[in-house]
Amino acid sequence: MVNAFYDFAGELRRLEQDNLYRRRRVVDGPQDIKLNADGRQLINFCSNDYLGLANHPEVKAAFKAGVDSYGVGSGSAHLICGHSNAHHALEEELAAFTGRDRALLFSTGYMANLGVISALLGRSDTVLEDRLNHASLLDGGLLSRARFQRYRHADVEDLQAKLSNAASKAMVVSDGVFSMDGDLAPLPAMVELAERHHAGLLVDDAHGFGVLGKNGGGVVEHFGLSQNQVPILIGTLGKAFGTFGAFVAGSEDLIEMLIQKARSYVFTTALPAAVAEATRASLRLLQVESWRREQLQNLIGRFRQGAQQQGLELMDSFTAIQPVLIGDSGQTVAASQRLLEQGFWVSAIRPPTVPAGSARLRITFSANHTEQQVDALLAALAKAFS
Ligand SMILES: Cc1ncc(COP(=O)(O)O)c(C=O)c1O
Repeated sequence: MVNAFYDFAGELRRLEQDNLYRRRRVVDGPQDIKLNADGRQLINFCSNDYLGLANHPEVKAAFKAGVDSYGVGSGSAHLICGHSNAHHALEEELAAFTGRDRALLFSTGYMANLGVISALLGRSDTVLEDRLNHASLLDGGLLSRARFQRYRHADVEDLQAKLSNAASKAMVVSDGVFSMDGDLAPLPAMVELAERHHAGLLVDDAHGFGVLGKNGGGVVEHFGLSQNQVPILIGTLGKAFGTFGAFVAGSEDLIEMLIQKARSYVFTTALPAAVAEATRASLRLLQVESWRREQLQNLIGRFRQGAQQQGLELMDSFTAIQPVLIGDSGQTVAASQRLLEQGFWVSAIRPPTVPAGSARLRITFSANHTEQQVDALLAALAKAFS
């Protein structure tokens, strides 16, 4: 007898009909500007490797040396026997980099967000989240079982109203740089509000670290915000750092609390020590090679100017994320396909990643792109929309 539980065909057909079906392309070779995928070479405008460190010789050498020193697997969770001096040194370096007392490594940004929010909030509390927060922040809020409220995107007045009505212990949670829009959270005003209402403030700066701030310190460096002002700061290592993993930075007590209570920290295997060694190398490069940020800003400016001349609908972003808003999912997939035919890989972002009716091309830049490649993308976009 057929078990109806496993009858997924209808739902899959519906996703296909709604232009929401997702497919993977198989990449052959390292992450870089030129990617070999499905048997052809494409210019990559969709990765989060904003500084071009994922395939950097020094990062790779550090990774290989890490394997020689530590092997591959870390053997267990940090609290058992998986916490090596490579992890420990990286945590100390991340704390110094962010100007925080301490930092704590997590295996992924998704797990950091689930673990931190659910460790700090419970059933009788309130979590206030920007409507456009990354899925992992929303999922963390839901997992915590706190009263879950979303405020309008980057809307300080709406946040203030919701904070005023929060009867219980509350925490405000936001992306620093919004992952699908590229704009910044209005952090100075949010800091002031959180302080006034005695609420917690968590900022996930997955897309700001490495890109924003003179030293790559991200959105908090950009706005000059200290540990007292943004007490819970999260970064991911798989984007501008070019490696893998994530960290939380904050006070001594915050980190100790997370070591005790964050279930996605306690109950999982530590990331490989060699990845920590690779990240130590990329952290050094990210700080000293400020030309990467300058090159990125130059390319972003060039793209925005060219796109505006073409009448493309850009968003309020000066970061490496430069979406072109289209709206309809089918048209967005078609535009992405037309770019692909011209040799450019730009992802079509559709609901539920973004709100219904706001599908877009998410174009991302890397310090390793050339001006010629940006100009060629602009020409391809003109053709794709003609
Ligand atoms: C804002 C934000 N936070 C967290 C994550 C998840 O990080 P990770 O890929 O390390 O799980 C992402 C994207 O992947 C993100 O965009």
